[in-house]
Amino acid sequence: MPAFPDPSHPDCSVQWPLPQPGAAAAAGHRNELRLAVMASGSGSNFEALVRACRAGCPRGAVALLVVNNPGCAAIARAERLGVPWQMLDHRGHGSREDLDRALIDLFQRQEIDLVVMAGWMRVVTPVLIGAFPGRLVNIHPSLLPSFRGMHAAAQALEAGVTLAGCTAHLVTEEVDAGQILVQAAVPVLVDDDVNSLSQRIQQQEHRILPLAVQLAAERLGLTVPQG
Ligand code: GRF
Repeated sequence: MPAFPDPSHPDCSVQWPLPQPGAAAAAGHRNELRLAVMASGSGSNFEALVRACRAGCPRGAVALLVVNNPGCAAIARAERLGVPWQMLDHRGHGSREDLDRALIDLFQRQEIDLVVMAGWMRVVTPVLIGAFPGRLVNIHPSLLPSFRGMHAAAQALEAGVTLAGCTAHLVTEEVDAGQILVQAAVPVLVDDDVNSLSQRIQQQEHRILPLAVQLAAERLGLTVPQG
């Protein structure tokens, strides 16, 4: 059975992953995960994750927010929530790899266990992925593998699907293609536009991202299942 409260909705919109072998064997874990979040925009997923941690799932705390845009709204959320934040402006780094090396340095100095990309609008390189194997989680506003890349809600409307949704997954070199952790579906309504559909999807992102983080940590043996 899943180790934390069953998030299934009566309408079955959340697809709950089956228990994974070894999920309970967390030798050498520490009880409190140290999480970092990378964000470029509004930061609503960052805030949802902070609040979920404070409510007990995932078992840990967001120790650091990293942003790459001086004006992004995620900063104000961090200030309000009392979460330390750091600016790493990509324009000050010569290449994507340089930016990733700066991120690694920051995360290692802060003893970060697991990193969450929550609206980080930069493509990461094998440099960062290799430094955090299986420890880099992304949230994407579609039911992957459909509608990768930017403008996923617009793509869903354009395709005429009647179900859309979101996916929390591990990050690999191929964009929006890593192992799926948790997905949730939402209906597409007849009068939806990109804005209304995106809002409905985001509500589900806020539910599944914390679950995905806990799940990824359990699979790595970084934490024990929640009892
Ligand atoms: C989310 O919809 C996420 O799926 C996408 O970027 C958006 C970030 O939103 N990758 P927020 O900054 O968390 O509000």
